[in-house]
Amino acid sequence: MKYSASLFVASAVAVAARPKDAPTPGPDGRYTLEAPGIRAQFIPYAATLTNLFVKDKSGVERDIVLGYDNASYYPVDPGHPVYNAVPGRYTNRIGGGQFTLDNVTYNIPKNDGPNTLHSGPNNWSFREWNVTAVSKDSITFSIYDPANSTGMPGHVESTVTYSLEKNRWKIRMEASSPDVRTPIMLTQHTYFNLDAFANPDTQTIWNHTMYMPKSHRTLAIDANALPTGKIVNITKNSVDDFWSAPHQLGYASGNADFQNHCGNTCNGYNGEYILDDNKTDRDVVVSLSSEWNGIKADLRTNQAGIVLYSCYWNDGTAPMKSTQGVKGGSKLIPKDGCIAIEAMDYVDGINHPEWGRLNKQIFGPGQKYVWEASWQFGLIGKSRPHHSQ
Ligand SMILES: *[C@@H]1O[C@H](CO)[C@@H](O)[C@H](O)[C@H]1NC(C)=O
Ligand SMILES: *[C@@H]1O[C@H](CO)[C@@H](O)[C@H](O)[C@H]1NC(C)=O
Ligand SMILES: *[C@@H]1O[C@H](CO)[C@@H](O)[C@H](O)[C@H]1NC(C)=O
Ligand SMILES: *[C@@H]1O[C@H](CO)[C@@H](O)[C@H](O)[C@H]1NC(C)=O
Ligand SMILES: *[C@@H]1O[C@H](CO)[C@@H](O)[C@H](O)[C@H]1NC(C)=O
Ligand SMILES: *[C@@H]1O[C@H](CO)[C@@H](O)[C@H](O)[C@H]1NC(C)=O
Ligand SMILES: *[C@@H]1O[C@H](CO)[C@@H](O)[C@H](O)[C@H]1NC(C)=O
Ligand SMILES: *[C@@H]1O[C@H](CO)[C@@H](O)[C@H](O)[C@H]1NC(C)=O
Repeated sequence: MKYSASLFVASAVAVAARPKDAPTPGPDGRYTLEAPGIRAQFIPYAATLTNLFVKDKSGVERDIVLGYDNASYYPVDPGHPVYNAVPGRYTNRIGGGQFTLDNVTYNIPKNDGPNTLHSGPNNWSFREWNVTAVSKDSITFSIYDPANSTGMPGHVESTVTYSLEKNRWKIRMEASSPDVRTPIMLTQHTYFNLDAFANPDTQTIWNHTMYMPKSHRTLAIDANALPTGKIVNITKNSVDDFWSAPHQLGYASGNADFQNHCGNTCNGYNGEYILDDNKTDRDVVVSLSSEWNGIKADLRTNQAGIVLYSCYWNDGTAPMKSTQGVKGGSKLIPKDGCIAIEAMDYVDGINHPEWGRLNKQIFGPGQKYVWEASWQFGLIGKSRPHHSQ
């Protein structure tokens, strides 16, 4: 109850304190925020980032995330790729669409083969969130999720605040379940193509460079990309090795086990990397870069793992934004054209008590869920001053 009271106060204050120059949404429904070196646009639908502009090594501004020009298309898009949105209240997969909490078994509708993906009907990435605060460099979206709306017990209240600082995008999410214990696990489901599909030689993601120096373990997955329960060490130069050195995302594409690596008939990545126990919130856990235009993106987070998805299931029919692509070239996003990078706790941890994640995934009265991350943008080879989160 304490948190709902503070939410109410927060929104009242935000309205009262709304700065004179606070942005209002443009005619296309987008809020535009800015800070030196970075500009980002957001819509309340699914608390979505629609555009993210940073400069490349030639000083050309690139829109480095996936999305649509037409903000009204997001709610009706049958593909619903959860573009840069916040799926909830329990992101990624729930094995068998089922979990047991405090001796009660809950059944959540299955929408991904035998499993549930991104929670039950009326899940968060299909909702229009409220804007509770906005300034020229920050916006807060909130959601009130009624009890049982996703098949899970208790109502949940949550906020996501996106803010921009020099060359940096920060994200903070909070959530609470004031009435009863319930699963909560969130992420920002960001899809990148640092080239903005403007590299005339390739529009796939395979030539992007990935470095994950704190990822020595991964959750083994089954044919439906559901964790089996096994946590495996990643050996040097194996298909999941991004810890021993920066590797191109396609570096292991010639290996036999690259085939079906993201589930049955799926080539590439769709699994979770567990971060080393000794990582801190200040460590860069993902560094994604493009040799072609020099853009580098560094992720820091308080989360315990990183899901990578290399867009195998893109069917090649989704349109690019007008800010992306090669002049005169294809305006459709190719298969393998992006990488989703999603910081989160262990996928399906509610069904794996042996992992010891229940106290990070089940929240009840008096407890607060806090998710934090930041993306810092720069150029390959240029050192940047360190900022704390
Ligand atoms: C944007 O998408 C909506 C929903 O599909 C559609 O009704 C509208 O015509 C589209 N607008 C443009 C300019 O394409
Ligand atoms: C669950 O059931 C066990 C065994 O009957 C019981 O000991 C325990 O107190 C129950 N837990 C809750 C939260 O109801
Ligand atoms: C999420 O909600 C939407 C709209 O209600 C629905 O189409 C989609 O299937 C839901 N997802 C799940 C896992 O049920
Ligand atoms: C937005 O706020 C209104 C008014 O308080 C509320 O009825 C509605 O449920 C909120 N929407 C969400 C998604 O929380
Ligand atoms: C939750 O919602 C489902 C689907 O509407 C319904 O069948 C079920 O009875 C509800 N459960 C509770 C505890 O309200
Ligand atoms: C992508 O990387 C591969 C392997 O290093 C290389 O052979 C190829 O030329 C690169 N392609 C582009 C377009 O950079
Ligand atoms: C994984 O590596 C750790 C040391 O980093 C070791 O203690 C553990 O036994 C290894 N597990 C397996 C299954 O090889
Ligand atoms: C952190 O843990 C990993 C995996 O166990 C290990 O390889 C690495 O050396 C450790 N780093 C430090 C600074 O202790």
